[in-house]
Amino acid sequence: MIENRFVRSFVVLAVLLGAAFACVYANELPSPIFGVTIPNGYRAWQLVSVHATQGELKSIWGNTVAIEAYRKGTLPFPDGTVLVKQTWHSVSLNSTPSALVPGSPVHLQVMVKDSRKWPKTGGWGFGEWVDGKPSDAARHQTCYACHAANAVARSHDFVFTTYSP
Ligand code: HEC
Repeated sequence: MIENRFVRSFVVLAVLLGAAFACVYANELPSPIFGVTIPNGYRAWQLVSVHATQGELKSIWGNTVAIEAYRKGTLPFPDGTVLVKQTWHSVSLNSTPSALVPGSPVHLQVMVKDSRKWPKTGGWGFGEWVDGKPSDAARHQTCYACHAANAVARSHDFVFTTYSP
């Protein structure tokens, strides 16, 4: 009986420790300045578009708030909008070298709209992770600056990507 209780409390303790560990490590550290985190399950979100630049391929996903805003053409994007851009180095497909496919990851970038939280950056909070680690504060100073410097993005609520039907 005693042994049983001991075993049971040990199991409870192990489960609790496991849960605590999962909470800490399931999400990577938040971004500096903004405190944005990598959204859970973004890979199951809808695709907004794909981009390719020299040597890189990119997917841009949006949560349901983002997709609805894109479909209706709502500007500015409403609070609760989240956009994720994943970038990979492009490599040739072995069997068909002319086909470019995603190779190793470059970075993961996130934009979260909360106009009350981030009034100085167009209402957007920014986050970038390389190998699961947030980039430094200096890097995060450049996000809004570049998005706001482009006239087209500026007229589209600081978002470059348009919806590809
Ligand atoms: C030098 C300019 C520049 C800087 C700096 C920059 N971006 Fe962007 N960003 C772009 C461009 C251009 C796009 C359009 C997609 C593409 O081709 O990469 C983009 C797209 C995005 C997108 C997809 C939504 C959209 O606006 O199209 C996210 C999310 C994003 N950037 C986050 C970030 C974060 C986070 C940082 C800072 C760590 C950052 N960006 C820094 C130029 C920049």
